Amino acid sequence: MTILGIETSCDETAASVVKDGRQILSHVVASSADMHTKSGGVIPENAAREQVKSIIPVIQETLLETIKLLRYEDIKGKGAIASPQHSLIADFVRDKIDAIAITAGPGLIGSLLVGVETAKTLAAVWNKPIVPVNHLVGHIYANMLVPENTVHSTQYTENNPKFPAIALVVSGGHTDLVLMKGHRKLEYIGGTRDDAAGEAFDKTARLLGLPYPGGPSIAAKAAKYKIENLKFKIRLPRPMIEEDNFDFSFSGLKTAVLREVNKLKDAQQFNNITIQQLSYDIQEAITDVLVEKSLRAVKQCGVKTFLLAGGVAANKRLTEKFKFEIGHLDFDIDFRVPLPKFCTDNASYIAACAEYNYHPVPWKKISANPGLTIMDNQ
Ligand code: KG4
Ligand code: ZN
Repeated sequence: MTILGIETSCDETAASVVKDGRQILSHVVASSADMHTKSGGVIPENAAREQVKSIIPVIQETLLETIKLLRYEDIKGKGAIASPQHSLIADFVRDKIDAIAITAGPGLIGSLLVGVETAKTLAAVWNKPIVPVNHLVGHIYANMLVPENTVHSTQYTENNPKFPAIALVVSGGHTDLVLMKGHRKLEYIGGTRDDAAGEAFDKTARLLGLPYPGGPSIAAKAAKYKIENLKFKIRLPRPMIEEDNFDFSFSGLKTAVLREVNKLKDAQQFNNITIQQLSYDIQEAITDVLVEKSLRAVKQCGVKTFLLAGGVAANKRLTEKFKFEIGHLDFDIDFRVPLPKFCTDNASYIAACAEYNYHPVPWKKISANPGLTIMDNQ
């Protein structure tokens, strides 16, 4: 199938066209992150206002890119090139798009509504099936996508993972570990009891005076940290790492960082070097816990595949640690992580998820649902 995916759950407005759940025909993401960098975090009202403005241009752009890629104007003949863009798009959608996939939740209500209501309108007008997608499950399907530079090749590999699999979804608002026995066969095995991993990066970055989003800011400072600059011993806690369960807790880390920052400020030693040092240990603490708990789940459940997903999966140190630990297991397991640009929010994985979990719903029955958990809509 060829699916138009639409995603507006947080501060991105994204639309993609994906074939067979893996081949990306076009991938457009408009982000209002710069605006939120200035305000130090996402202001929901502002994010939704930007999305109202950009949703139609983003969908138009993704469809026009696909039209160009498939040389659809040529197929339609000279008249089509001269025809207005909207009628070319309408012809293209009628002929080539099989369904629309839309993020139904979780996320910010105002943001979700922009995407959901637009997708429903398009489904009604174009008379296309519409598939609601759980954003958290969607993240996992970024692992099915093949890089865009293979688009012009007629061959693109089957990329289906072997089940059972463990998936760790680490995003700005969620940290979930699930056992996947197949598509739409998820079992919840653990998750965060308070802050999500991405939230821990974002909140601690703020305490260090680093810009939003905190994950890439902390990673950049941590990369500059040099062991020879170490003057103060900072060893942040690794919350719940020893506990015999698959749950996480990151709010204590935030408190520990605040304490260190205050101590350094009192001693007038809060400077670039100590910020680098703190960033380094924040990244180490978060990634240590994520890797330890996930590996325990992998061993206990005896799975064939490990799927890492969500914005925090873009973290290089996290993937390095997973690769190392998985490489040292005494059984074979396929470790997958999407390219960094597919880890953070985009519509390609929403379209991919709809392909593998195809369950169209009459558009009238679809509504934005900010409170969905990873186990909803299975
Ligand atoms: O999945 P995502 O794009 O949006 C949500 O669904 O929340 O995840 C955003 C989160 C933010 O907390 C951001 O700081 C974090 O992902 N993030 C990273 C990196 N890139 C994004 N965290 C650590 N390292 C990164 N390189
Ligand atoms: Zn996300």
